[in-house]
Amino acid sequence: MPYAPEHDEVPNPLRPGLRAESPPDPCAIVVFGASGDLAHRKLLPALYNLALGAHLPAAFGIVGVSKSPFTHEQYAHDMREAVGKFSRNKPVDEEVWRDFGAGLRYVPGAFDDDDTFRRLAVTLEELDRTRATRANRLFYFATPPSTFPTLLEKLKVHGFIRPPRDSRFTRVVIEKPFGRDLASARALNRLVLEVMDEKQVFRIDHYLGKETVQNLLVFRFGNTIFEPIWNRRYVDHVQITAGEELGIESRAKYYEEAGIFRDMIQNHVLQLVCLTAMEAPVAFDADAVRDEKIKVLRSLCPIDTPEQVARRVVVGQYDAGQIAGTDVAGYQEEKDVAKGSRTPTFVAIKLDINNWRWEGVPFYVRSGKRLPKRATEIAVQFRSLPHSLFGEGASAPNVLVVRVQPEEGIALRFSAKVPGERFRPRTVSMDFRYGTAFAAASPEAYERLLLDALKGDQTLFTRKDEVEAAWKLVSGILQVTESADRTALFRYPAGSWGPAQADALLAADGKAWRRP
Ligand code: BG6
Repeated sequence: MPYAPEHDEVPNPLRPGLRAESPPDPCAIVVFGASGDLAHRKLLPALYNLALGAHLPAAFGIVGVSKSPFTHEQYAHDMREAVGKFSRNKPVDEEVWRDFGAGLRYVPGAFDDDDTFRRLAVTLEELDRTRATRANRLFYFATPPSTFPTLLEKLKVHGFIRPPRDSRFTRVVIEKPFGRDLASARALNRLVLEVMDEKQVFRIDHYLGKETVQNLLVFRFGNTIFEPIWNRRYVDHVQITAGEELGIESRAKYYEEAGIFRDMIQNHVLQLVCLTAMEAPVAFDADAVRDEKIKVLRSLCPIDTPEQVARRVVVGQYDAGQIAGTDVAGYQEEKDVAKGSRTPTFVAIKLDINNWRWEGVPFYVRSGKRLPKRATEIAVQFRSLPHSLFGEGASAPNVLVVRVQPEEGIALRFSAKVPGERFRPRTVSMDFRYGTAFAAASPEAYERLLLDALKGDQTLFTRKDEVEAAWKLVSGILQVTESADRTALFRYPAGSWGPAQADALLAADGKAWRRP
């Protein structure tokens, strides 16, 4: 991991942000899907911000590949606009852009056309000569999953993938969703590993690039005081919410195929579960961290029968409603959504982790589109007081809330005495906020992850067995919810916290969802 503690007066593991010990080696990045949404909104702005922070190697080039018929100049112009619009640093710094833009190239063509790859080879050689990129390559699949097999095959056939021990590196970043169930994820893993070594594969989950998500590791394993209480003896239950007020925007074609399970649960939400529940790794390196996360996934109680799904899973889809005073359409009315679509846009699940630390401590997770607001948080609720000295209302349990976004930070809620003559307790909060604690702005998740991939650090990327273990749980649920006799799909109005049945899931255990 490229944390490089600065010699500040108060050493702080988060403060240095992306400051790396040394810049990555010279390299050319090839972005497949260069004219797509991800490249425009996230990848190019992230690369530009890395250039702005002087984190990119001096010798660097980017080649966009997609069907749109751009010239190099048109592509550079298009990307300049995208960066101007989506970069977290505005306006674009002309001097930085001059060099960055000069390293942009574009190869138009279809992914199943050999000629595209011949022209790509010529362009990469030109970059090696003119920008000294030294034949190091990072290929980024910012494309629909259906293209992955073709891309892998063409890269192999055209000799782009060098052996892992070659002095010139070849790495491939693969976007989610990695497969659409356990069987297809396994098949894709087989295909990937026929073409390259696991050390060359970077399966991306952008949640792992978020500062607050990484901070879970520092919070848990960089402090002594939380570890003794981070277990079944003190924790009553854990709630993880990943809510969005956004709907599906213009992504109906993708979303109709994916739904909330493949879009959020198999990846982002289960990663949050892993980081909350895992044991301390033996070292802070890629395999040690991932070994521990996988143990959590393997300990998850399977949910793969209609009875278990009925008891533990609530799926929903939004109807029309109001968010922040504005009318929004229901899922069925969104453009390109099939009438009568059963794609879930909300899910709540009760997970059990069958191991020594967490036996009997439910992890309730929920995620949804068109909820009242964007809020991702992990709330660890501690056990209730064994006996209340101060009367009714004085026994609110302690809660530790990790706010992943927005208002990034951590709050501990506890009882305090209200000033006055009586012993009247009230819940108050001790609050750490990134915004005020650290002077530096947090980098975007994609900046961190692209830099790690350039440096060859896989800690924040998912390994083969990890992605399969996550699919195992989700596939088990999907096999029931997508089966012919169909589980109920509950309705919820846009702007609510999901169907009432999600509340009932916790009420059955005598608990209630927190309002983030
Ligand atoms: C993406 C999903 O992976 O994550 C989107 O495809 C979702 O549907 C997004 O909106 C949420 O990411 P973030 O960083 O906005 O929480």
